[in-house]
Amino acid sequence: MSAVLSPAPRRPIRELPDELVSQIAAGEVVERPASVVRELVDNALDAGATQVTVRLLAGGVRLICIEDDGCGIAREELPLALRRHATSKIGSLADLESVATMGFRGEALAAIASVSELHLLSRPAAQGSAFLLDASSGELRPAARATGTTVEVKELFFSTPARRKFLKTDATELAHCVEAVRRHALARPDVGFTVWHEGKLCEQWRAGSREQRLSDVLGEDFLADSVAVDHAVGPVRVTGRAGIPDAARSRADWQFAYVNGRYVRDKVITHAARSAYEDLLHGQRQPAYALYVEIDPTRVDVNVHPTKIEVRFRDSREVHQAVRHAVEGALSAPRAALAGAPQAVAAAPVMPAWRQPAIPFVPAQQGNRVEDLAALWSPSPVGRGDARNPDAAPAPEVGVRTAHPDLPSGDWPLGRAIAQLQGIYILAENAQGLVVVDMHAAHERIVYERLKTQMDAQAIRSQPLLIPATFAASPAEIATAEASQATLEALGLQVTPFSPRTLAVRAVPATLAQGDAVELARSVLAELAQHDGSTIVERARNELLATMACHGAVRANRKLTIEEMNALLRQMEETERSDQCNHGRPTWRQLTLRELDGLFLRGR
Ligand SMILES: Nc1ncnc2c1ncn2[C@@H]1O[C@H](COP(=O)(O)OP(=O)(O)OP(=O)(O)O)[C@@H](O)[C@H]1O
Ligand SMILES: [Mg+2]
Repeated sequence: MSAVLSPAPRRPIRELPDELVSQIAAGEVVERPASVVRELVDNALDAGATQVTVRLLAGGVRLICIEDDGCGIAREELPLALRRHATSKIGSLADLESVATMGFRGEALAAIASVSELHLLSRPAAQGSAFLLDASSGELRPAARATGTTVEVKELFFSTPARRKFLKTDATELAHCVEAVRRHALARPDVGFTVWHEGKLCEQWRAGSREQRLSDVLGEDFLADSVAVDHAVGPVRVTGRAGIPDAARSRADWQFAYVNGRYVRDKVITHAARSAYEDLLHGQRQPAYALYVEIDPTRVDVNVHPTKIEVRFRDSREVHQAVRHAVEGALSAPRAALAGAPQAVAAAPVMPAWRQPAIPFVPAQQGNRVEDLAALWSPSPVGRGDARNPDAAPAPEVGVRTAHPDLPSGDWPLGRAIAQLQGIYILAENAQGLVVVDMHAAHERIVYERLKTQMDAQAIRSQPLLIPATFAASPAEIATAEASQATLEALGLQVTPFSPRTLAVRAVPATLAQGDAVELARSVLAELAQHDGSTIVERARNELLATMACHGAVRANRKLTIEEMNALLRQMEETERSDQCNHGRPTWRQLTLRELDGLFLRGR
């Protein structure tokens, strides 16, 4: 414990030898075998490969060999490829602003060669034979190979034992290597990938469609339990698939995000995707998704992280909004129509664009009174039932409104009501079998979505505070408040400097007038400094509406007539997000005839 480090006597300043410079620089690029795999596959893809083969020994520590059928490297360029800061991918600063390739620094091969034994074997189509370069000796000799490149990396970190000590078991390193290939594979379904370990085939993904690749890499279940995302806003397009709330996981291990084909770990995208699930997933559940963001390359800086896993957007708010809206939109369509038809799940939802039922107008300031909620339930302006008794008030309208007039009644996705069970569940019969609906949970979502739609239809109304709420603000908060006046006002907030060190909240959204104005302003400013501040106001508003909806929803033990039950089912079919209640629990389940037959050991 007494080993206090005393500073060594100061040495004179000297330049480090080249080799040491390379090894230090390599530390940023090459952390473990998987980093080598990532860089070499990047290179293969940049070379236009259609097939990439990865062979590993001892988790990649003893050998990483990557073969591609790309454009190859000409004999005279082989030594250059290993030189630091030598690249064929950019030639000027202007090129760097619009990089379309994975590589651009001309550093990867030099870094890898400085901490391993590297051999480069390559042949461009126009060259009679292949050449092999031994990086350590510099020896160059003819060899046999078809068009393409093979990079062999042996004994990683053999010359830097301190690094080697940080490696984990072979199995762990192998898992990281496979993960690196998997990330590439999800981005490039048009390229075939094969991974071998110790001579055994580990993974093989053939070239095909994106859906096929997602299914091959993440499993058929991912495809069945996700919805297609495809949405463009301004210069940003977001495609891919978003897992349904039911398929959420306990770990955030299936969240794949790509920017212009590059796998990234990006706070803006993660936050935006998460906020799209906010209304659907509660607790610690983690959504699964594969999202592909395409954006004009001049609007994103890829040169901010040594392993290129992070990027910086010129306007992160525009990306945040695009991702959030894309995922939200994909998740909002009710999936009832897809029940029992898993083969159809891969296609876009077959529900017609949801038709908004005529909702009676309820002024926002009255919105939390039970009788107003009752009015929401019924399309007629006057609510049925006894408005003073919350258990009886929000009765479904009588009579079945057909959500799909073009479908025969037997084809209603959620079926025809047949009974009510214990005052809690509705049982219905559809083409696949039995549907069980948790009536309170379902109704709660319906009321909630109606309240939201209704409020969205009105601009956010701002309510001035009689006495402005002032608070001591940080310089960053003051700067954000000054820079974002217009955004704040659009959110119904007025926050202005009061003194050099204080801000005053002068108005808040009317729906949130009862809350803590300072806390609201601070969280909006914090979000605005990062990305899309509108989510805060919306979140606060939604929490309030959810509480109101819970009070307004039909209670357990309330007897419903068959007509009322059918009305509820039809409303579920046309309400966004109606597959989950406001707390993220499912509102209905399908028991198929096959499952029922199984229960009774009935062979079909
Ligand atoms: N598999 C390959 N096929 C064809 N050319 C390759 C291949 N691998 C490397 N090269 C050539 O060697 C050069 C150097 O590769 P290296 O990975 O070191 O740098 P880079 O890809 O240009 O940039 P970065 O350091 O960002 O990866 C590339 O610019 C490319 O011209
Ligand atoms: Mg490279």
